[in-house]
Amino acid sequence: MAVLFEPYSLKGVTLKNRVVMSPMCQYSAEVDGQINAWHFVHLGARALYGVGLILVEATSVQSCGRLSTHDVGLWSDLHIERLAKLVEFVHAQGAKIGIQLAHAGRKAQPGDEPIVGPTEVPFSDRYAIPHALTPEEIQEVTRDFVRAAQRAVKAGFDVIELHAAHGYLLQQFLSPLSNWRTDHYGGSEQNRLRFPLEVLQEIKRVLPPPMPLFVRVSAVEYTSEGYGLEEMIRFCHAFKEAGADLIDVSSGGATPAAVNDYPGYQVPYARRIRQEVEIPTMAVGILGSPALSEAVLASGDADLVAQGRALLRNPAWVMEAARELNAVTEVLVPRQYGRAFPGWPRLER
Ligand SMILES: Cc1cc2nc3c(=O)[nH]c(=O)nc-3n(C[C@H](O)[C@H](O)[C@H](O)COP(=O)(O)O)c2cc1C
Repeated sequence: MAVLFEPYSLKGVTLKNRVVMSPMCQYSAEVDGQINAWHFVHLGARALYGVGLILVEATSVQSCGRLSTHDVGLWSDLHIERLAKLVEFVHAQGAKIGIQLAHAGRKAQPGDEPIVGPTEVPFSDRYAIPHALTPEEIQEVTRDFVRAAQRAVKAGFDVIELHAAHGYLLQQFLSPLSNWRTDHYGGSEQNRLRFPLEVLQEIKRVLPPPMPLFVRVSAVEYTSEGYGLEEMIRFCHAFKEAGADLIDVSSGGATPAAVNDYPGYQVPYARRIRQEVEIPTMAVGILGSPALSEAVLASGDADLVAQGRALLRNPAWVMEAARELNAVTEVLVPRQYGRAFPGWPRLER
């Protein structure tokens, strides 16, 4: 049987297959960070069509951490109720759902609010100059990550992913490109790691033990002034030690430089991290060819594959993959859609 359609268990959560919907900002939430009908249709459709794990887009733990004024938020208890309804719908389709907790730091564009970062250096000349967080303010951001994680647990999410990639606040601390601090949160590798590690440790403390914690990293920064894969491998050892259950391996984003991407371009990083750190990984990046996704899993480069744009192009990508990999008996089709999928097993709800 295709590995792509084998169930996968991590801690207390079992996914029905290895297909993950990658977190994707929609810039479509209400200005107070609430999700709306867009998110129910956008994420609900992928649950109907067989995705094993859906990851809600980068969700800000502070209102000043939003990439736009229409980002999803989890900085208030008021956000819990609608998210809980989304979780309930996705669960009813037999899928699992996680949420990506994020803070955009110096990349944020939250309207009138001032933005923050490790250092008073803007992302580019089109961005505001961030206020450099004091150690006390860093602790406050950590507490807000933890509060958001507690709200995610209350809403019923199966998985939490910490966004430490793409030039967001946590990566801004990891990277010498954006972290020029001279206190114990900057300078040496260990100091740059301190804040992301504290966030991870504190979140881990409040999660129910069966709940997996994913960390999305940018494995490389594509410039010799940034950190490289060997340093990221050392960071991942520390993340594992602190309780990360899986590393979601992306790359880039700390600078505006464009990345030369092609099918599977980030897979070698997932493979190295999986081998060296001995931790499960998720591969992502132009893996829309089912055969390629299957090869990534079958060769042991990663435990899960995330699909981003392929799922935007085709919400029924899982069905296409099942046909191509001769796994149609492995996908439960909603009873309501049964006539369109003769011979496929049905989800009777
Ligand atoms: C519309 C869009 C929004 C995205 N938003 C996020 C996000 O919120 N968080 C994140 O970690 N990555 C985000 N990404 C990156 C994707 O999760 C994924 O890593 C990337 O698109 C590569 O995978 P793909 O080739 O399957 O699309 C976004 C990508 C797209 C296309």
